[in-house]
Amino acid sequence: MPRLTKDDVQPVGFKLNGRPVVVRVTPRTLLTDALRHEIGATGTHVGCEHGVCGACTVQVDGEPARACLMLAHQADGCDIRTVEGLAQGDALTPLQEAFRAHFALQCGFCTAGILMTLDALFSRQPDADEDAIREALSGHLCRCTGYAPIVQAALTARNRIKGGPIDA
Ligand code: FES
Ligand code: FES
Repeated sequence: MPRLTKDDVQPVGFKLNGRPVVVRVTPRTLLTDALRHEIGATGTHVGCEHGVCGACTVQVDGEPARACLMLAHQADGCDIRTVEGLAQGDALTPLQEAFRAHFALQCGFCTAGILMTLDALFSRQPDADEDAIREALSGHLCRCTGYAPIVQAALTARNRIKGGPIDA
């Protein structure tokens, strides 16, 4: 079997927000580029492209992952979830509602990645405390908000997801 070169285009299949997709990419195409340029899913942002800022965070099989550090081929067969997969039509998730209510975004560049990290956190740890939330956020850079409204929004969303009082 001939070896692939860096320019050979091959199909890669994965689920994106529950729907099967196939993209044709080279061996070194990044997942961010496949999502944004091949599929048009531009909700996933690209900042540093070095795994530092967290802007590109998506969920891979339920776990947050830096899409700028993944090759598209590594997503083959995976379940990929992006910010486009959160809201159902006009119905925002409690986390998105809380971000809006607490003004937890300004320019919004960091927001998609942060939402995907917090969504994954609350899926596996619905009663995550403030320390756990801050730990999860430690991999995300936000130049606008000072983080306090993001943490407050996360706490509000956690309370709503748990079904308790919003401001507990
Ligand atoms: S763009 Fe991926 S971590 Fe910054
Ligand atoms: S809202 Fe602007 S970088 Fe976070």
